[in-house]
Amino acid sequence: MVSALGDGVSAGTVDDAASAGIVVIAVPWDRVPEAVRGLTWDRQVVIDATNDFAADDLQGRTSSELVADLVPRARVVKAGNTLGADVLGSDPQEAGGRRVIFVSGDGSDAKAHVVALFQDAGFAAIDLGDLVTGGAMQEIHHPLAGVNLIRLGGP
Ligand SMILES: NC(=O)c1ccc[n+]([C@@H]2O[C@H](COP(=O)([O-])OP(=O)(O)OC[C@H]3O[C@@H](n4cnc5c(N)ncnc54)[C@H](OP(=O)(O)O)[C@@H]3O)[C@@H](O)[C@H]2O)c1
Repeated sequence: MVSALGDGVSAGTVDDAASAGIVVIAVPWDRVPEAVRGLTWDRQVVIDATNDFAADDLQGRTSSELVADLVPRARVVKAGNTLGADVLGSDPQEAGGRRVIFVSGDGSDAKAHVVALFQDAGFAAIDLGDLVTGGAMQEIHHPLAGVNLIRLGGP
């Protein structure tokens, strides 16, 4: 896997991954609880890239709010879930612009880290607000799921 992904990639344990400054949760939705169980968090930024394809009854909450409950003391930002892996992994600079990535989260500092991460990779980030409002728009079957926009100009 490491050699297939190329330079800048290394393998480690789940504990190694969880100790990084920015951690991405990219496991099937129903596996999230077991994937994060027992991990301790200390203000890391956790990017929730998951989608609740089963459309579970979340009792009026967004899936990222539930993820946030599972990683107390981490700072959750929802990002990277609305585009398919093929699109996400392709050149974000297209048609004279930059591919749009949506970010939602309750803390502006955490979102700034994620925005910078994606901007460094060539994306144009759009902040949709908190996990309730923005997180809902990013959910599977909601308005921005699968929407592949190119931003022409702008920050
Ligand atoms: N694929 C896409 O186009 C795409 C795009 C945007 C968002 N997403 C979201 O990203 C998430 C992952 O999607 P995927 O397509 O990558 O799924 P996937 O192909 O099924 O990959 C799941 C990965 O999660 C790992 N995993 C499963 N249970 C785990 C656990 N308890 N602890 C640690 N790792 C565990 C698996 O590792 P092992 O193989 O070792 O079990 C595997 O590497 C989903 O929530 C999906 O909705 C996917």
